[in-house]
Parts: sequence; structure tokens; C-alpha cells
Amino acid sequence: MLFDTLRRPLRDLRVSVTDRCNFRCAYCMPRDVFDRNHVFLPREQILTFEEIERLVTVFTGLGVEKIRLTGGEPLLRHGIAELVERIASVERITDVAMTTNGSTLARHAAALADAGLDRVTVSLDAVDDARFRHAADIDFPVARVLEGIDEAKRVGLSPVKINTVVRKGLNEDALVDIAGMFRGTGHIVRFIEFMDVGSSNAWDLSEVVSAAEILSTIGAKWPLDPVEPNYPGEVVNRWRYRDGAGEIGVIASVTMPFCGECTRLRLSADGSIYTCLFAYAGTDLRDALREGATDTQIAEIVTDVWEARTDRYSEERVGVPIGLPKVEMSYIGG
Ligand code: GTP
Ligand code: 5AD
Ligand code: SF4
Ligand code: SF4
Repeated sequence: MLFDTLRRPLRDLRVSVTDRCNFRCAYCMPRDVFDRNHVFLPREQILTFEEIERLVTVFTGLGVEKIRLTGGEPLLRHGIAELVERIASVERITDVAMTTNGSTLARHAAALADAGLDRVTVSLDAVDDARFRHAADIDFPVARVLEGIDEAKRVGLSPVKINTVVRKGLNEDALVDIAGMFRGTGHIVRFIEFMDVGSSNAWDLSEVVSAAEILSTIGAKWPLDPVEPNYPGEVVNRWRYRDGAGEIGVIASVTMPFCGECTRLRLSADGSIYTCLFAYAGTDLRDALREGATDTQIAEIVTDVWEARTDRYSEERVGVPIGLPKVEMSYIGG
């Protein structure tokens, strides 16, 4: 097992399979930055499925058991079910999940489940069409995402988790509607505080709605009781409806940071590893892979990176060196 300087083990790997997305959520890929002139990763720089599978196998030797596929939008990656199948069959991988915007989930869910995907998390910031189109900044019906969520449940990719980023002016007046839509369905909505991730979303503390405010809004309508974490270091704070209609969660990265138990490593689509969501630099593994490094040599690079890890950005929030932009979440993976 591998530990960093703060005695945190490496357990989870979040793999970004593409830096592209068909949505333009303003807190993630604002349209004026990610416009026609934005240069996405060229195909030859993106890891192949074989390369990802090989890295995952190497990572399992260092303690990784959980994989989350992210993007961008992972379902835009052609043939993604094949990658799921390859990863799910790696010995020692116990959990394969995916975070998707749900736009094409209805069509992909069955194949993903067949390939061995265990669970999906769907990003969804509103349940009414007008607010949804505004949040995703695209002409797309929310009903299609809702169909994707239903289909995911039907094929057993459950419990389906719904990630709702809460931002003032975006959806803070619709939290009860969102919670209400999923109460009693078995799906778990997690409300996420708007984070200062990346360098292009014009983050401002005044636009953050705290987890405490979110809980008091929903709790006023449907009383809530706290629930123990599923596992140590779980990112979400769980709450249960007192009337038995299921559970919700809050992810309070801004007001209650959780770096102390952070066991997550991120792999970008072009093969660099990042030890923090708020990193401004990563360590390239692709060149080593393509230049014929052995598994042991790759494991050594990762070991050096993890053992030197000091990150606790959300707890410190002191910023990064001037002039160095933080990498975007669409590139590094949520
Ligand atoms: P499971 O327990 O495996 O279902 O996953 P999870 O609850 O950790 O959820 P998920 O991986 O989907 O993370 C939910 C959201 O929490 C992400 O989309 C991010 O917005 C935020 N998040 C996840 N990991 C980190 C992290 O390491 N740091 C910070 N600051 N935020 C994170
Ligand atoms: N703040 C909070 N959450 C964010 N996400 C993307 N950008 C931000 C941000 N700035 C969420 C998305 C998705 C997950 C990958 O991360 O909504 O659910
Ligand atoms: Fe796309 Fe997800 Fe980012 Fe929205 S949050 S732009 S759906 S990657
Ligand atoms: Fe982990 Fe960095 Fe998030 Fe802290 S801010 S929980 S160290 S990814």
C-alpha cells in the first residue's frame, strides 16, 4: 500500500476519457472560454483503451480498487463500453462507476451494465426545462436526461446518484423541486457547493450556497436525520428523510473540506496524473508508456508522485503560484 506525506493511502482512480462535452455548464466549461477556438486534445494524444487498461492494472498493484470514468462527457468517447469491460475485468478492481451528464445514457445504459459498470452518477442541476437549458447552456430537453436516469435504474446501475451543483442565480430557488422529483425513487441527490475548480468559471464566494443552507431549505420541507458514512473518507455527507422517502447528500468542499482522507488520484485523457482536483500541474505517464517503460518503471513514477503528495487545497484555499492556471475540471475529471 502506498501512503502520501499525510499518511493517506491511494485507493481511487478517476479516469478522464475525453476533455470534450456536449454541454456547457457555466461553472465547468463556460461557452465564452470553451468556444469554437478552444483547442481540445488531438486524438493521438489521448490514451487508447489498451493504455488505460494497462495503467489501471499497474495502479491496482499500488492499492487502487475503485475506478470512476469521467470526462468531459465520457459517453462521447466512442466504444466506451469496451473500456468498461476491460477495466471491470482487471483483478482487484471492486467498483467501476461513471459520472455522466446523462444526455445519451438512455441509449448506452444497457450496454454499460452488460460490460460490467456497477453504478452511474448523473450531473443534473435542474428538473424543469427552462432552468436546465440555462444551466447546461444548450438546447436539450431535460426529459432525455430523466429517461437516462430511469433506464440506468432499470438495468441495475443503481443506486443512481444525481450530482446537483448549487450556485446562486442558477438553481438555489429550485432545491426543493429537485429533491422532490427524486424522493421515493431510490435515487440519491447530492447537492454540491459551487467550487473554485479550474481557472475559467469566475468563481466567487458570494455565489456559494453552503451545505448548511441547502440542508435547512430541504429540511424545512421534509425533516432530515444524519446518516453514517458508507466508508471512511466519503466525500458526501449523508442525510435521510425522516419519513422514509430515501436519502440525499451534501458535498461541502468549500465550507467543510475533506482533504484529510482524500485517497483520490486523477488520470487525464492524455495520460497525466494529478494528485488534487485543484492542481496546476500533473506528471505525464504517456511518454513512458509509449517509450516502452515496464510496469515496474511506471509504478515507480506513480510511487514517487504519491509519496511526495502534500495536497490539501480545499483546507488551505491559499491559491496556487501566481501565473499558473489551475487545470480545468473537464480535462482532469470530476
Ligand atoms: P462514490 O462514493 O464512489 O459514489 O463517489 P462520491 O460520493 O465520491 O461521488 P463522486 O465521485 O461523484 O464525487 C462527487 C463530487 O464531489 C465530484 O463531482 C466533485 O464535485 C466532488 N469531489 C469529488 N472528489 C473530490 C475531491 O477530491 N476534492 C474536492 N474538492 N471535490 C471532490
Ligand atoms: N463546482 C462544483 N461542482 C462542479 N462540477 C463541475 N464543476 C464544478 C464546480 N465548479 C461537478 C459537475 C459534475 C461533477 C463532475 O463535478 O456537476 O457532477
Ligand atoms: Fe459537461 Fe459535466 Fe462539465 Fe457540465 S459539468 S460542462 S456536463 S463535463
Ligand atoms: Fe483531495 Fe485536493 Fe479535493 Fe483536498 S482539494 S479533497 S486534496 S482533491
